[in-house]
Amino acid sequence: MTSYAETYAAWKADPEAWWMEQARAIHWDSFPTRALDDTASPIYNWFGDGITNTCYNAVDRHAEGGRADQAALIWDSPVTGQKKTITYAELKDQCARLAGALKAQGVETGDRVIIYMPMVPEAVVAMLACARIGAIHSVVFGGFASAELATRIDDAKPKAIIAGSCGIEPSRTVAYKPLLDGAIDLAAHKPEFCIIFQREQLRADLIAGRDLDWDEVQEDVTPADCVPVRGDHPCYILYTSGTTGQPKGVVRATGGHLVALNWTMKAVYNVDPGEVFWAASDVGWVVGHSYICYAPLIHGNTSVVFEGKPVGTPDAGTFWRVIEEHGVKSFFTAPTAFRAVRREDPDATFLQNHDLSGLRAIYLAGERADPSTIEWLQDKTGKPVYDHWWQTETGFPMVANPVGIEPLPVKIGSPTVPMPGYDVRILGEDGQELPAGELGAIAVKLPLPPGTLPGLWNAEERFKSAYLNAFPGYYETGDAGRKDEDGYIWIMARTDDVINVAGHRLSTGLMEEVLATHPDVAECAVVGVADDLKGQLPMGFLTLTRGVNRDHAEICRECVQLVRDKIGPVAAFKLAVVVERLPKTRSGKTLRATMAKLADGDTVKVPATIDDPAILDELRERIADLGYPKT
Ligand code: COA
Ligand code: AMP
Repeated sequence: MTSYAETYAAWKADPEAWWMEQARAIHWDSFPTRALDDTASPIYNWFGDGITNTCYNAVDRHAEGGRADQAALIWDSPVTGQKKTITYAELKDQCARLAGALKAQGVETGDRVIIYMPMVPEAVVAMLACARIGAIHSVVFGGFASAELATRIDDAKPKAIIAGSCGIEPSRTVAYKPLLDGAIDLAAHKPEFCIIFQREQLRADLIAGRDLDWDEVQEDVTPADCVPVRGDHPCYILYTSGTTGQPKGVVRATGGHLVALNWTMKAVYNVDPGEVFWAASDVGWVVGHSYICYAPLIHGNTSVVFEGKPVGTPDAGTFWRVIEEHGVKSFFTAPTAFRAVRREDPDATFLQNHDLSGLRAIYLAGERADPSTIEWLQDKTGKPVYDHWWQTETGFPMVANPVGIEPLPVKIGSPTVPMPGYDVRILGEDGQELPAGELGAIAVKLPLPPGTLPGLWNAEERFKSAYLNAFPGYYETGDAGRKDEDGYIWIMARTDDVINVAGHRLSTGLMEEVLATHPDVAECAVVGVADDLKGQLPMGFLTLTRGVNRDHAEICRECVQLVRDKIGPVAAFKLAVVVERLPKTRSGKTLRATMAKLADGDTVKVPATIDDPAILDELRERIADLGYPKT
């Protein structure tokens, strides 16, 4: 067995040869003649001239290669009381039929298809069916409201939209269809047709001439074969939050995606083909793309599709039940989920009813994993708990514990070490590398590895300005952190206005744009404040238009509702307060970091550039009205 150091050194010595070797684990109709095309540097193209198909690699080759009767997906839905197992052979049939229906309706290779669905196996089938015919899917998380869906429709310009009739939240059934109809009304671009998956919990009214029923559209269709595409053909677009209200359409190219994800299943998650893997996330996020849908299937594993919450569906023992019942070997979720479990069941009494002997390890990512949650989890389960760090843009871990190669000692609070493909550097403001131990911007030396974003959808300049221009020759991750003497990376905070709420990446800039549309709001600022459960929560500060004399509480309630209506419940925007003025520098820059510190109860050094220090006292009082700081 090789060690991590040997593996990383082998990659570094000859990255292209190393990735070509990993590419051999994938089926290619035509093997790429070379790994990397860097002629358009700093835009890179991996495996561009290879010919392959994502759905073939994820489904057909297993169905044809001895795994026909193995479970590909296990759907476990405590919110509906339903469960279902889908074998690789069945998954192939379902993907081929839906792909056939899309084709029959005119969807061709390169067309975009938006998918707006809850956590049902049909969502995975929809993703794979698109990939099967080379259509580029863009999944939109169900917790986003119409306006956000409309933004994505206008950017991706889909020929079709596939949606579920409803999602099931523990407290309510969320009708997706009115949100979809609202989004299509708002959007300038109109899809040619929609396919609606009707759920028995709430069926939707279909619009004649536009909406097609999921079952009916597949009746009597000719199943579609896999369409071979180039390695650089986009498999999907996934929108993620940036500093502005306009989300970034992260593009994932076919070839690198297959190669990189396949490699991680053993090296990082330590599972062999045939074993059960579970990522408790949602297909609307990158974790769901990579580790509910694609990677486990590409690698020949069984993937659990879970429709529920860590608590309340029905209780804090749900995770343990699913792990035992389905024989999960590796489990991945966001730290928030375990903070919720711990809050409900601090002594982990539910664990006593479950046999977790088959589980090897628990993986955490998506947000900072606080040491106390990791320690609690280690202590209660007796399992290794591995933090790892990555982002929508990269699609797979940048920094992780390479457990399947060689488990490295865990340093609680660090996601461990860079994976092959990632030359992670800590840079100062001048772009120079900082010595071990010093805090700086985390950047990755270009080229990024296969599987990471080759660009943003139709936005090359934005791609460069958002990620490549700050430090020429590097990809800027947007996170700050440090590297220690052993080469372990420590992630500290975002360097931009992105916040992380319950593992969901949200833009405070977007929330400010929405709040600014309230007629009584003159100026506003949204900051992330620390929260014991969700990691961070957004808090909004509003100043009112001159002459507005209405009840402040009423205006705040309207603003909370406005964000919920425009962005969606996932924004979790519930804290808003009216202030006389926002704290600003003499040059007019809003001091958001100072406001966040006040709300967190951190020591605030009065910024030398503040135009009026007295303003901080008023802020403290208003923040106290919201019950902050918490400690
Ligand atoms: N469709 C519609 N609404 C949705 C939704 C969906 N797919 N997902 C979430 N929402 C709604 C919720 O109902 C909630 O609405 P509310 O304000 O009316 O209560 C809101 O969006 C926030 O949802 P959520 O973040 O799930 O918070 P919660 O308070 O309902 O649950 C936790 C708290 C901790 C249980 C939950 O955040 C959780 O499971 N976190 C795990 C994080 C995770 O899996 N992250 C994925 C990235 S790895
Ligand atoms: P997303 O693109 O939604 O996956 O969010 C990515 C961002 O989440 C990263 O840029 C980090 O800010 C944060 N993040 C993800 N994983 C971790 C982790 N293990 N530790 C700290 N922050 C993390």
